[in-house]
Amino acid sequence: MRYNYSMNQEQLRAALVNVPVPEIRFFESIGSTNDEALRWAEDGAPDGALVMADQQTQGRGRLDRRWITRPGAALAFSLVLRPTLPESRFLQLFSPLGAVALSEALVVQYDLEPHIKWPNDVLLNRRKTAGILAEASWLGDVPQAVVLGIGVNVAPSAVPPDDEVLFPATCVEQAYGRPADRLELLAALLRSLFEWRPRLLTPQFLSGWEARLAFLGEPVRVEQDGREPLAGRVAGVDGDGNLLLRTADQQILTVAVGDVHLRPAES
Ligand code: BTN
Repeated sequence: MRYNYSMNQEQLRAALVNVPVPEIRFFESIGSTNDEALRWAEDGAPDGALVMADQQTQGRGRLDRRWITRPGAALAFSLVLRPTLPESRFLQLFSPLGAVALSEALVVQYDLEPHIKWPNDVLLNRRKTAGILAEASWLGDVPQAVVLGIGVNVAPSAVPPDDEVLFPATCVEQAYGRPADRLELLAALLRSLFEWRPRLLTPQFLSGWEARLAFLGEPVRVEQDGREPLAGRVAGVDGDGNLLLRTADQQILTVAVGDVHLRPAES
């Protein structure tokens, strides 16, 4: 097997030959693939269009954080998805869709045991290995596109030191113990995503997500900006993608996606 430490347009196209991606834009270096995909979406990008970069200089994370993508070390890409009418009422499920697809790819390709820290960070060995930023573009109150941006730490040089992040990070190769081919991982992820998407609004998708939910049954703290943190044990997710927490007095609390941070209770 040949490992892709470098990446170029031809290698990318060859890796995705059996994946239903209608159009691809590849950049050796770009500000943010999400920004490019949002511009392309405004310009008529088709459903499933892919923007991929080897390096990002202005990568963005959730809650206005920076996301650093060094060349040769990570996956950084954004998909333009055109929501169907039923999907457009559940846009918050697109980022868990990315997390479920990446988790499945990590199992299939490398036999790893990923978990999804609600709502959508992918963990290996309880450390973050991937982040997802879904952004929508709207015409009035009708969503025209969801840009699903996914960043995966593949090689150790992608991993930020613990004192630079809110949640400790890791990478695929640390968990796998061997080199991992970025393009092979990308192809598996996209195949999985396009297979799960038709089931996005079904109980099957929620079960698939819950089966990978991090800290299930464990005590966690949910910090919400400007409010008292919530404490409870992770009990699951509901059909809207909300987190369900079981409190010490057996109440179920529903936590909506937003300005929230979930952590294990002991940290
Ligand atoms: C997070 O965990 O805060 C989300 C990180 C999302 C990073 C990806 S990398 C590809 C895409 N382009 C961006 O600028 N951000 C997303």
